[in-house]
Amino acid sequence: MGEISNKFIKEKIEKLQGIESYKLAESTEKLSRRFGIPLNKIIKLNFNENLFLPKKTLTDMLKIVAEECDPRLYPQDEQNKLKESLSRYLNIPFETIVVGNASDELLDRIVRLFLERGETAVTIDPTFPIFRYSAKRQGANYLTIPLLENLELDIKNILGSFSAKTSLLYLCSPNNPTGTQFNKSEILALIKEFPGIVVLDEAYAEYANYSLTSKVNEFDNLIILRTFSKAFGLAALRLGYAISNSKIARVLSEKSALPFPVSSFTVNMGKKLLDNYNIVIKSISELKIERDKLIDRLNKISGVKAFDSDANFVFFSVDKPHEIVYQNLLNKGLVIKKLGKILHMDNCFRATVGLPWMNDHLIENLRKYLGD
Ligand SMILES: Cc1ncc(COP(=O)(O)O)c(C=O)c1O
Repeated sequence: MGEISNKFIKEKIEKLQGIESYKLAESTEKLSRRFGIPLNKIIKLNFNENLFLPKKTLTDMLKIVAEECDPRLYPQDEQNKLKESLSRYLNIPFETIVVGNASDELLDRIVRLFLERGETAVTIDPTFPIFRYSAKRQGANYLTIPLLENLELDIKNILGSFSAKTSLLYLCSPNNPTGTQFNKSEILALIKEFPGIVVLDEAYAEYANYSLTSKVNEFDNLIILRTFSKAFGLAALRLGYAISNSKIARVLSEKSALPFPVSSFTVNMGKKLLDNYNIVIKSISELKIERDKLIDRLNKISGVKAFDSDANFVFFSVDKPHEIVYQNLLNKGLVIKKLGKILHMDNCFRATVGLPWMNDHLIENLRKYLGD
């Protein structure tokens, strides 16, 4: 299509083009074509997906769930049944749970409800970027407080940033991309002191040491985000949930969502996995063993500094230009997340903990390029 001649539409589009938007990473199909590497040889370690749940186990379950669904009908009681299962899984009241189209969508809903134009959104740096896009699109000021060099929260500066205009604080713990879970008492102190809503993103909680889901009823202002995309291996299906006191949960459920935000099929698959939680637990234990091995092996490569992780990925820095290291890995079909400069470190990466053979491949190639 050529130029748009309608002035009104043209102006609208120009204004919308000014909004910063999330750039999706190149798909494995495109990488496969670009590098001439067969698709099944590409090792995808850039999105923190769960590679430990066997695909066959999940597709067998999907088939059963598909048989149980009637695709002609709008969703009925499926969400409530999932909430009952989640309520048992986390030992939290049913009415504190809101189901959504994965946690990104819930985060966006929260921002639309609780952050107004001209207000300030506070978060840490570095962190998961979706909050930034939502907050800026809302016309809010976006304020970041860098983590300390040891990747901990800079409590003093975060507390010092609060003003009458700060209405939303986003904390991701375990933090993406740095991988560690923040100190529990510091997070609780921030929730207590913050004047507005605190969103605590616990996307990786199943791999971590603690969760604050049992605390939501102790605070007026806490919303916790959880997802089925990580430990539950359902990133493709888009399923997540928020947990908060029942007043906030009600607003979140009734005032921001369209009537059917998640398909019955997806919701039923989430419930099926909760009913078979033993396979999820097994994959978590297996991943944790590999995670420790991977961190250890990375740290044995000269010039590499890998940090502890409470998630399903590892954050590390190297002493060679990250662009070159990244390209070398890509040429071998290895895709990790290139981060570049993070805090005081110039050449940083984040890699999903893969299956043992994938990690072997990553280590072998890093050794080769970083000179051992
Ligand atoms: C911290 C964090 N929150 C949320 C998400 C997205 O989760 P979902 O697939 O539920 O939208 C990710 C994905 O990488 C993440 O790292």
